Amino acid sequence: MRLLRSSTCAVRQYIFVDLDTREADVIDPVLDYKTASGTLSTIAADILLKFVKEKELNVPMDFVKSFDIFLKDEEEFSLSSNITGKVIHLPGHTPDHTGYMVGKAIFTWDSIFMPDLGSARADFPGGDAKDLFASITRLLSLPQDYQLFVGHDYPVGRQHDCMATVGVHQTKNKHGGFGTTESQFIQFREARDKVSGAPRLLQPSLQVNIRAGKLPPASNGRVWLKTPTKLTNPNIAL
Ligand SMILES: [Fe+2]
Repeated sequence: MRLLRSSTCAVRQYIFVDLDTREADVIDPVLDYKTASGTLSTIAADILLKFVKEKELNVPMDFVKSFDIFLKDEEEFSLSSNITGKVIHLPGHTPDHTGYMVGKAIFTWDSIFMPDLGSARADFPGGDAKDLFASITRLLSLPQDYQLFVGHDYPVGRQHDCMATVGVHQTKNKHGGFGTTESQFIQFREARDKVSGAPRLLQPSLQVNIRAGKLPPASNGRVWLKTPTKLTNPNIAL
């Protein structure tokens, strides 16, 4: 379970279902976090559980350690007794970013956004605009009817959405569509990222995501999420 769901941006959680066996896999579940009160809740996760219960699905449960298995690029893994998925390494937004490909569906998370939003920032630790361009190019080299399911959506003037085909991205993706050169993309992405402030939930999210969704160990009877402080003037600390 990852941390963070903010109110301004749709954060997608997906349930993959094998309709023959009713086995299901939850992809990218999130916790809800309120910064001001420091409250963590399971509003989004409860919606998933309700769906699983209503549809009488069996979610394979093998969550023992933080990371149960480590997968290499192109490695396959089983989603149900009959269906396998494939991991695709899509670095750029973060260095360890991955997509999951199941048939013609690819769950891309922040490797690409809906065509009118284009791409995610590449200035997080280990992020890289050149890598991101290569990852987007890799996705857009797939057959045109493949479907890219995104992790976020925050449009102005239209409904939140979650999927566009490779063909639509090829012609319409605002940042990385066909015709965009690597240097154009890098130049645009770096300039844009320089003026974007840090996301509001970056610090708490990092501390939970790096533990694969587990919270830091409690101390003094409470769980603490820390906020590193940058001193712009060293005299502040005197
Ligand atoms: Fe992200």
